[in-house]
Amino acid sequence: MRARFVAGNWKMNGSLRANTGLLDALKAGLNKSGNVEYAVCAPFPYLGQVSAALSGSAIAWGAQNLSEHDEGAYTGEVSGAMLKEFGCRFAIVGHSERRALFGEDDARVAAKFIAARRAGLTPILCVGETLEQRERGETESVVGRQLDAVVSAAGAAAFKDAVIAYEPVWAIGTGRNATPQQAQDVHAFARARLAARDKALAGLTILYGGSVKPGNAKDLFAMPDIDGGLIGGASLSAPDFMAICAAARR
Ligand code: 13P
Repeated sequence: MRARFVAGNWKMNGSLRANTGLLDALKAGLNKSGNVEYAVCAPFPYLGQVSAALSGSAIAWGAQNLSEHDEGAYTGEVSGAMLKEFGCRFAIVGHSERRALFGEDDARVAAKFIAARRAGLTPILCVGETLEQRERGETESVVGRQLDAVVSAAGAAAFKDAVIAYEPVWAIGTGRNATPQQAQDVHAFARARLAARDKALAGLTILYGGSVKPGNAKDLFAMPDIDGGLIGGASLSAPDFMAICAAARR
């Protein structure tokens, strides 16, 4: 049985004070349970705070981005090795906001995936189509292309234990989640696409992200190829995030 995983993506939200309340509540409320794992992906400046708060807890943590370079004259960038120093286990790569707002193309996303691996981080690779692409019937070709670009550059072996997040762009922050069946269809497609490159990749953890809330999480997580969620807005509320985590327990 594949592991279940729920990760929060705080995006550019939080403050020292707000984070303290959120982290304390999560630490008190989330215990090691069955085969569900939890993580929060915080803004860079708060990783020290997150590490201090969550060390020894059942909750792992990660970053939302990293540089494809290891060190040097890259003003404003943060390397995977730096994230490791702050105890990060995960780094999100290829989030649609980075693709759309910061010009990250497939090649750059692949380079970041490889950099995360080089640093000993587990990448959470995000893929997903826009509304226009879905309406044109291009969902599978877009998601397939996004996956292939990284598998070709990194090699199938680099995907061992990696995490994939299917996040349809039209469902992110819109309150309009994909239906469980819509999400399941793309998850099954992604799993088959990866398995075609290497049978072992059929067992990868594939998360759904896009307006996951306490009220829809259970139905989404009940689908056979959905292994958990990557949670944006609802991860900023301890009760909501914990309710979503509870929905992932079998
Ligand atoms: P929302 O849950 O706010 O829709 O965001 C999803 C997301 O982008 C997680 O990475």
